[in-house]
Amino acid sequence: MRRSLIAGNWKMNGSRESISGLLSALKESMANGSDEVNLGVDIVVAPPHVYLDLANRLLESSTIGLASQDVSQFDKGAYTGDISASMLVDLGCAYAIVGHSERRQLFGEDNEAVVGKFDSAQAIGITPILCVGETLEDRENGQTAEVVLTQLRAIIESLGISALTRAVIAYEPVWAIGTGKTASPEQAQEVHALLRGEISEHNSQIALEQRIIYGGSVNAANAEALFAQADIDGGLVGGASLDAAEFINICRVIK
Ligand code: PGA
Repeated sequence: MRRSLIAGNWKMNGSRESISGLLSALKESMANGSDEVNLGVDIVVAPPHVYLDLANRLLESSTIGLASQDVSQFDKGAYTGDISASMLVDLGCAYAIVGHSERRQLFGEDNEAVVGKFDSAQAIGITPILCVGETLEDRENGQTAEVVLTQLRAIIESLGISALTRAVIAYEPVWAIGTGKTASPEQAQEVHALLRGEISEHNSQIALEQRIIYGGSVNAANAEALFAQADIDGGLVGGASLDAAEFINICRVIK
């Protein structure tokens, strides 16, 4: 049985004040909001790096987990601006998003860098959330399967299939991110099943247990149909995770 995961990716948004407000609203809704929110679903938030320490302190007595939005592939040293996996552990992070399409597209991260990030997170006990997804052009050219499988195979070929046992995969079609245009439940399910099938070629037990979440304009209105799909185990939520009530409603749906 796969445990669902809902992760809020706050991207480069917020201030000390707004983040404190968002976290206390989340904690409050979880405390009042009956057991259902806590039932069978892991809830994680990914604030900007500079607010991780604040978030960690505010989440001390909460079941909400902490994720970073990125992690360096290097351990330490002369990498100006980078944040290492051990620093993230120090700040209470249990998860790290790696290979988000915004990192791949805007900051030129290729599969090799993503493998390094995945590996450095996992080596220290952080669960990587590996993002894969095709652009609109890829989809229109019929290359969706090839693109997402290449991104997944980069990990499997370098680190072995067992690396996936302590990881989450997020399928995020690039054309659905921040556009309000979500993949239909059937489109998403098709890719999730494809990814699970690929893992199954190596190890059917790992495939069965692999958490594969969907991201791209998820909100409380479309979450139910997406999460009802057999191979969708939760969501990576951007814009809608900046609103506490909306995010909690998405978490409730997964029940
Ligand atoms: P979105 O972002 O929900 O705003 O589309 C999702 C993501 O980028 O993880």
